[in-house]
Amino acid sequence: MEKTFVLGPRSFVLDQGKAEEAYAAKAVINGRETMTFNLLPLRYQWAYDLYQVMKKNHWEPEDVGMQKDVEQWRSSEILSDSERWIIRMGIGYFSAAEGIVGDNIIHVVRELVTAPELKLVLGRHAHEENIHADSLLYMISSLGINPHECEAIFEQIETVRRKNEFVTKISKDLRRDIDLTLVENKQLLAKNIFVFGQCMEGTQFYGLFGMILSLYRQNKFPGIGQMFRYTLRDESNHIEVFRNLFMDLVEENKEIWTPEFREELRETMREAVQLEKDFIEDCLPMSSVGLSASEFMPYIDYIADRRLQGVGLEPLIGGVENPFPWLAELMDINKEQNFFEGRVTEYQKSSALGAVDDDLL
Ligand SMILES: [Fe+2]
Ligand SMILES: [Fe+2]
Repeated sequence: MEKTFVLGPRSFVLDQGKAEEAYAAKAVINGRETMTFNLLPLRYQWAYDLYQVMKKNHWEPEDVGMQKDVEQWRSSEILSDSERWIIRMGIGYFSAAEGIVGDNIIHVVRELVTAPELKLVLGRHAHEENIHADSLLYMISSLGINPHECEAIFEQIETVRRKNEFVTKISKDLRRDIDLTLVENKQLLAKNIFVFGQCMEGTQFYGLFGMILSLYRQNKFPGIGQMFRYTLRDESNHIEVFRNLFMDLVEENKEIWTPEFREELRETMREAVQLEKDFIEDCLPMSSVGLSASEFMPYIDYIADRRLQGVGLEPLIGGVENPFPWLAELMDINKEQNFFEGRVTEYQKSSALGAVDDDLL
């Protein structure tokens, strides 16, 4: 179907059929290569919808007050050594992890997907990792922690080094020209998306999220806790971005979904869970108020099973109860959005007006 626009001496013909062909060639991978970044018509509506949600959740670290956190950090009475260590491990681990996620998106996933709306939401995802990395810098400088400590934690704490290596190796494997028409390479990309979305952001972030929010619940580190709540809200969207991307990649490339590949992914999650449990032992070598390493183990099993089921895989254990019902309120994706709704609205209003919301101090 052609439509002709006549303006004075010129006429322009727009051929809808050709445009429809271009739309039909949109795909997660191996789609039409285009530099024009044409979003419309949207083929992956979920990607645009999530982009909108993510955009509305925008936050900046400096809007969150750190005064009480600094007072508590400097006081010799308020905090135990265990509580200080959790904060050090939290800041240290996430300082590397946020950057690793963003880097993998920019150099691997966003490079390899072809539909523009997928690139759009992945660009936002990578930007949010920059905000998270920046929030850690802000926490470190506010508390006056020696900035060399981060590098020392990445390199010298074996459980952190192993967690980072687990994700960076699958990222490195894809940083070359790869032929994505080959099944094994499609599986490598699917595994990368699974590892980053479901194993790392979806499971390995949750040990520390739980510990830091447990301190926050006891009125310890209100500024850091608030920033982690914003981060957690972002992470729940990131898990969804990668879950949808994974599901559509599999749907469009069904030949990759073999029993062997499914088992390989479950085994990868099993490895992720073990790495996280070893890491939790290092975060909580002694029990702290309301926190012990042994309580966190079934929590990680519970989260990992949910992530597997979310992408159509069998759980590793099955039937695990959530040992932290109070955390479920914060971490359940659906409830969590409701939980944050009120505060986010307030945050958006206050930041639009340039005022500071008391709730954020
Ligand atoms: Fe993040
Ligand atoms: Fe993330």
